[in-house]
Amino acid sequence: MFKYFASVVLAICSLFGLKAQELQSPNGSFKVVFTLENDGTPTYQLFLKNKEIIKKSKLGLELQNESKSLLNDFKVVQQSTSNFDETWKPVWGEELAIQNKYNELAVTLKQNESNREIIIRFRLFNDGLGFRYEFPEQKNFTYFVVKEERTEFAMTGNHTAFWIPGDYDTQEYDYTESKLTEIRGLFKSAVSSNASQKQFSDTGVQTALMLKTVDGIYLNIHEAALINYSCMHLNLDDKKLVFQSHLTPDAKGNKGYLQTPCVSPWRTIIASADARDVLASRITLNLNEPCKIANTSWIKPVKYVGVWWEMITGKSSWAYTDDVPSVHLGVTDFTKVKPNGKHAANTKHVKEYIDFAALHGFDAVLVEGWNEGWEDWFGHEKDYVFDFVTPYPDFDVKGIHEYAKSKGIKMIMHHETSGSTRNYERHLDKAFQFMKDNGYDAAKTGYVGNILPLGEHHYSQSILNHYQYVVEKAADYKIMINAHEAVRPTGICRTYPNMIGNEAARGTEFQAFGGSKANHTTILPFTRQIGGPMDYTPGIFEMDIAKLNPNNNSHVNTTLANQLGLYVVMYSPLQMAADLPENYNRFLDAFQFIKDVPVEWATTKYLEAEPGYYITIARKDKNSNDWYVGNSNGYNARISTITLDFLEKGKKYEATIYADADNADYKTNPQAYKISKQKVTNKTKLQLRTASGGGYAISIVEVK
Ligand code: NOJ
Ligand code: CA
Repeated sequence: MFKYFASVVLAICSLFGLKAQELQSPNGSFKVVFTLENDGTPTYQLFLKNKEIIKKSKLGLELQNESKSLLNDFKVVQQSTSNFDETWKPVWGEELAIQNKYNELAVTLKQNESNREIIIRFRLFNDGLGFRYEFPEQKNFTYFVVKEERTEFAMTGNHTAFWIPGDYDTQEYDYTESKLTEIRGLFKSAVSSNASQKQFSDTGVQTALMLKTVDGIYLNIHEAALINYSCMHLNLDDKKLVFQSHLTPDAKGNKGYLQTPCVSPWRTIIASADARDVLASRITLNLNEPCKIANTSWIKPVKYVGVWWEMITGKSSWAYTDDVPSVHLGVTDFTKVKPNGKHAANTKHVKEYIDFAALHGFDAVLVEGWNEGWEDWFGHEKDYVFDFVTPYPDFDVKGIHEYAKSKGIKMIMHHETSGSTRNYERHLDKAFQFMKDNGYDAAKTGYVGNILPLGEHHYSQSILNHYQYVVEKAADYKIMINAHEAVRPTGICRTYPNMIGNEAARGTEFQAFGGSKANHTTILPFTRQIGGPMDYTPGIFEMDIAKLNPNNNSHVNTTLANQLGLYVVMYSPLQMAADLPENYNRFLDAFQFIKDVPVEWATTKYLEAEPGYYITIARKDKNSNDWYVGNSNGYNARISTITLDFLEKGKKYEATIYADADNADYKTNPQAYKISKQKVTNKTKLQLRTASGGGYAISIVEVK
């Protein structure tokens, strides 16, 4: 491990002193220019290979109830630069070691009259920029309320954007590809319905935002280390083509309560002429604090199946009965009501899943709908909705634990909160202790519906603090967390690697709620996954949902081979085989790939990438010399051409290729795949046809 840190105070500047300061990335390809305007407004400008990629953009914050905001009238009192180079090892990740190398510029600003001091810190990496606001402890500036952060990202042209509507409560949208000036006109059609949603502007979009300039530069705007602050959206001034930060408000409309000393999250801009570099960037992780969990030996990647898809499709139910109009926890006696016959989380059925998991080498089984309260869990803003410890009468917690243990299978707990954060905190200790007592060491949490306390949003500061509290409390119990409907990740898993999964985007469930766009997973790695892994829950083999539930005519908009490719394309240390055992039993030859694919990686190579169109990734297994390749293709059928030059020179391998059949098509023929085997070396070149909405998966095993 190489670590070097040096700090040089460049200049002590007076009001009349130096007002512009340049910083270059370690390899010289990026340059950021900080300037203080004549009225004392701080600005920055970003260049890639001497080409402007972010025009001069203002920095600052508007404060509530203060005569003066933190927008202008500053003078520079100090500027210092330093550099940093360290290689660190993630507990889990896409590679064994990550280099964190940057040059830094910290500008200390003092405001006239108020005498308040802030620092703007820039870190320039070889793949992009991070910057944040810092508020040192000072007598005249202790508590303050943010009315709005006023960070600008001024575009150099009418770029192509891959965007979802800005929303305080959900990210579960399909992406739209359009020019910046087209966002306003397309906005309404980009909004689909959700259990909780609140848009704020018809040019408002979410981060991570993926952009492409006319001259082929890929730009990505996001944030890192979002802790004790509210989530940032971007609001576009579509006349000037300037994005303005837009924080998520609380019930009173305020956007953050801060106490010095404190810092904002990092604002990040990744940029390259090669889209693969955006996927390879580790800026988001690098801008987070090192791991704060002393002993991480209990944190383990997991491949799992679950009593889940049958409820999502409507084949089975989470609820135990249809006879109880509303549940009163502790009062409603479920031993006296008539079961609806569709309750999937029953001991017999769960044991079948455990058998299936054990037979095919999975690590764990998730069970949803095991606890009392599902009869009216949704849409009522019910505070006391679940207690997280009381099973329905047909779910034998102890018996299931013993059975799973005897088969070497771990159980994954489900904690749906229905957005009632206070209720969850109220029960958290008991719920986690109950898990430990019954052999569970991972929980999937969920926040469906409007947030309680009412008026708060899924992405406002105090609710983000709730998600963080749950992750930290879980770490005390040695419990891993996979949160659904929580805020999108910003690399916090580096600091708390027990945050092993997150949804925070439109996952596979929407394929059973009417379907997602066929190119969805060629965009997610460029957007949602810039912040961290996603519990996307791939592996659907039956695309016609009516076969599971005649009342659901949804169609899964991918081919079967695409579903296999997702295990490599959609990185996650937590991977689900989401379909029903009976569907896997129909296609055991294709299922073999899901059985074989690892969840822990040593190295990752990005072979092909174009947002919205295709992604091909190769990863090396952490525990062997084997490689796995995955491709996800968009709407246009295409030939993917790859060279296996990542394989070790001189070694021989056997590749098993799971590809779309020649006549495959996500709409008309999604289950048409072909499996072939061939000997390969690091000289082998492969040309594989990918169907519309198709893809492929390859396992490459060393032949000894
Ligand atoms: C939404 C989650 O994303 C899904 O996975 C879960 O099954 C339901 N909520 C019920 O909790
Ligand atoms: Ca969800």
